[in-house]
Amino acid sequence: MKLISPSLLSADFGHLERDIEMLNQSECDWLHVDVMDGMFVPNISFGMPVIKYIKKAARKPLDVHLMIMDPGRYIEAFKEAGADIITVHQEACIHLDRTLHAIKDAGLRCGAVLNPATPVAMLEDSVQLCDVVLLMSVNPGFGGQKFIENTYGKVRQLRDLCNRKNPDCLIEVDGGVNTANAPLLFEAGADVLVAGNAVFKSDNPAQTIHDLKQ
Ligand code: DX5
Ligand code: ZN
Repeated sequence: MKLISPSLLSADFGHLERDIEMLNQSECDWLHVDVMDGMFVPNISFGMPVIKYIKKAARKPLDVHLMIMDPGRYIEAFKEAGADIITVHQEACIHLDRTLHAIKDAGLRCGAVLNPATPVAMLEDSVQLCDVVLLMSVNPGFGGQKFIENTYGKVRQLRDLCNRKNPDCLIEVDGGVNTANAPLLFEAGADVLVAGNAVFKSDNPAQTIHDLKQ
């Protein structure tokens, strides 16, 4: 599968409605929504009121990436705000199994996220529960960072793990994705690519989304 999930973190917050409408009309599949708490990552982004507004304007699923400590506390709140998919960091959940079940029980699609320093093997006993696994290809916290090259190898390892334990699980990659590395990531086995800067800093974002999908 080749899906694109543009990250609204790089959108123009003064013209959010305009940027979301551009995404509605583009070939993108999901809208990636980055939530940061200033604890799990060194940055703070936005929370429920902004997501509710995004939901009102969006005609595609919201792919909510929680970069917050102990995200299990907020599953219902993010559901209410409009999340369709919620991904939580393995590193931020003491009880990852419980949190993934809570997302599923809320009727949403769920996923685990791994930081660049966390091995794929950490999901050996939870990949069965995941609709998607997100591999970070930068250290989370900021848009516009440089892609970490060993991500290709991790995508292949994760593909093997999914083939063994959950063939329907989607593999998503987030951070530093651009039109140069996108084909290599799809070839390695990725299904969903997140792109912030590559889309929103381009002269023609809709064309860039099209190019990322090729
Ligand atoms: C990083 C976020 C990413 C980020 C991607 O912490 O999770 O989703 O917005 O932005 P780019 O594509 O610019 O690296
Ligand atoms: Zn993200």
